[in-house]
Amino acid sequence: YCHSVKITVTGAAGQIGYALLFRIASGAMFGPDVPIELRLLEVPQAMRAAEGIAMELDDCAFPQLKSVDISDDPTRAFDGTSVALLVGSRPRTAGMERGDLLAANGGIFGPQGRAINDTAAADIRVLVVGNPANTNAMIAAAHAPDVPAARFNAMTRLDHNRALSQLARHTGAPVSSLARMTIWGNHSATQYPDLSQALITGDPVKVEQGWVEREFIPTVAGRGAAIIDARGSSSAASAANAAIDHMRDWMRGTKAGDWTSAGIVSHGSYGVPAGLVCSFPVTSSGGNWQVVPDLPINAFSRSRIDGSVAELLDERAAVAALGLLPGQA
Ligand code: NAI
Repeated sequence: YCHSVKITVTGAAGQIGYALLFRIASGAMFGPDVPIELRLLEVPQAMRAAEGIAMELDDCAFPQLKSVDISDDPTRAFDGTSVALLVGSRPRTAGMERGDLLAANGGIFGPQGRAINDTAAADIRVLVVGNPANTNAMIAAAHAPDVPAARFNAMTRLDHNRALSQLARHTGAPVSSLARMTIWGNHSATQYPDLSQALITGDPVKVEQGWVEREFIPTVAGRGAAIIDARGSSSAASAANAAIDHMRDWMRGTKAGDWTSAGIVSHGSYGVPAGLVCSFPVTSSGGNWQVVPDLPINAFSRSRIDGSVAELLDERAAVAALGLLPGQA
């Protein structure tokens, strides 16, 4: 017998929600033996669509899915929950200024952080997928003073997986033979996919720096836009898959000798200012991430990391000016 896990998914009626919920309910996140109680949070105008998804979840007859609850009230959706996947956000629309985007998302992630603070289970772990993910995670954490900030993550696992796949394609080595990839910084075009520590079957990767700078980094950082271009809408199944990878590794631990990438609150590692939610190379054990220590950072890496961190600082200054970071300078 195993305790059931309450999992809340926001934006449940969106594209990622549709790709994510069925995989969670089938046991992809925590294995086939863990009963799951799903909570779907949506805006009022999408409640009907969420009901349709709940009907389809019923129709799968997933043995481990105990219940599906739908709500447009965050305090109900997060009540007693242990895993929150914050997918729903306000996307940037044509002509929207960055300040308006950050303010609109502050209006979503502030109240959700507050509701998590007030109602979630003591072991709550939050993964922010909705963009701008790093800054949304910082806003949610700032509204949850009773929850350790380390429990609020931003998803850069999709970027990590994209980087692995691009390296596999370029070298001809299978993904399963690759280790120690890193995504640094913001989940945005400024991110730094770093293969300087990467291994292929235990040996350092040997690739041309020209390929890294002209092909690898732009392909990984620009992949989201390329998917939109090809598919007519943004990555959904791959984003859902990355969310599952992220939560599984967070709760169950990373593989010995390898690491992954996650947006976590900085305590100053690698010169990243404390309090920013930044992507680092991380390992997990016992449900806690640790930044991989003491990696050599060459001049190229330093400048790429600093460039993305500068964008995170910019976003933090903008949301602080909007009053979205209570209790922080
Ligand atoms: P979508 O537009 O299909 O779905 C978003 C859903 O969120 C909608 O159903 C909407 O009603 C809901 N929503 C909006 N405000 C809400 C609120 N306050 N509470 C609950 N639900 C709310 O978008 P999609 O494709 O599912 O993407 C969701 C987010 O994930 C976007 O911000 C997107 O940019 C981001 N994303 C992040 C990735 C990452 O790697 N971190 C990768 C791909 C997408």
